[in-house]
Amino acid sequence: MGFRIVILGSGRGSNARALLEAERADRLQGAEIVGVLSDKKDAGILEHGRAFEKESIHVPYGKKKEQPCLDQLEQWAPDLVILAGFMRIIGDQFLARWEGKIINLHPSLLPSFKGLDGIGQAWRAGVKVTGCTVHWVNAELDGGEIIDQQAVRVEENDTLESLEEKIHAAEHVLLVSVVAQLSAAS
Ligand code: GAR
Repeated sequence: MGFRIVILGSGRGSNARALLEAERADRLQGAEIVGVLSDKKDAGILEHGRAFEKESIHVPYGKKKEQPCLDQLEQWAPDLVILAGFMRIIGDQFLARWEGKIINLHPSLLPSFKGLDGIGQAWRAGVKVTGCTVHWVNAELDGGEIIDQQAVRVEENDTLESLEEKIHAAEHVLLVSVVAQLSAAS
């Protein structure tokens, strides 16, 4: 059986789309996207999932209201859960079930600029190099073991908007690469 993956997100879903396109182009080392889940009803990520004919479901989520999401994951039985812009804290029950099988994408070179708005934090700090990280999820916010990172230079003529674009482009490449790597190793 293939390496089953599920993507969780809250927003526009450009990283989910990069994974969907990579799967279609056979660039995920056999990984199969079996579902897309969002805590937000109108999230773009669900539209991307549906456009690729994946089961794409809105499930309300809260740190103390994890059961509906956990139930859905049991149905999909993934080998890997990918947080791609899932703007929620992962609670204890979730971690107890999925730790070791759940990864997160973050738009900075961790451990710098954890939490919300990693790109804006780096921009305001005036760093010359930032980037993105994929890491295992544990109980510490953005604190789990790093799997891989991609650096992005902040050039003289960059604006916050151009930096955001560069980081998102780097994220799309990094996330696909990590998922392919984990699938190949499974
Ligand atoms: C990405 O930049 C991701 O790194 C970030 O949300 C964005 C989702 O974009 N995640 C976090 O900040 C998590 N703390 P997308 O919906 O277009 O994939």
